[in-house]
Amino acid sequence: MYENSTIVISAWNRKEVVGAIRALTDKLVTGVIFSLVVKSKYQKQSIGTKLIKKCIVTYPGLIWYLKARNSKVEKWYEKLGFKQEKKHWFKK
Ligand SMILES: CC(C)(COP(=O)(O)OP(=O)(O)OC[C@H]1O[C@@H](n2cnc3c(N)ncnc32)[C@H](O)[C@@H]1OP(=O)(O)O)[C@@H](O)C(=O)NCCC(=O)NCCS
Repeated sequence: MYENSTIVISAWNRKEVVGAIRALTDKLVTGVIFSLVVKSKYQKQSIGTKLIKKCIVTYPGLIWYLKARNSKVEKWYEKLGFKQEKKHWFKK
């Protein structure tokens, strides 16, 4: 999973991984953030914000997509400047 991603950034506290973000991008137009997680003990210390910002600046000027898990996280993404767009289609 991580080895097939274009971008993987992790956050560490000494030897412990405390958070990570994983994304795929064509490096020209579009990027998709597939997972972002911060260990609960380390949440609310701006680690998630730093991970997402670091991911996005890797390839400036792209449109970034992601799927929010719940309304609480939706609000958080809004604060980071993400907008919700209802016209996306998918097939399983
Ligand atoms: C969503 C998630 C990645 C956020 O990570 P995080 O490191 O806690 O994010 P931040 O610390 O940057 O911001 C979270 C909140 O903490 C607040 N915060 C940041 N630093 C803070 C500090 N020093 N003191 C107090 N609050 C702080 C932020 O203002 C933000 O507040 P809000 O919830 O009212 O918007 C994390 O909660 C998580 O891993 N959740 C489970 C998995 C998940 O839902 N992932 C997203 C997939 S869609």
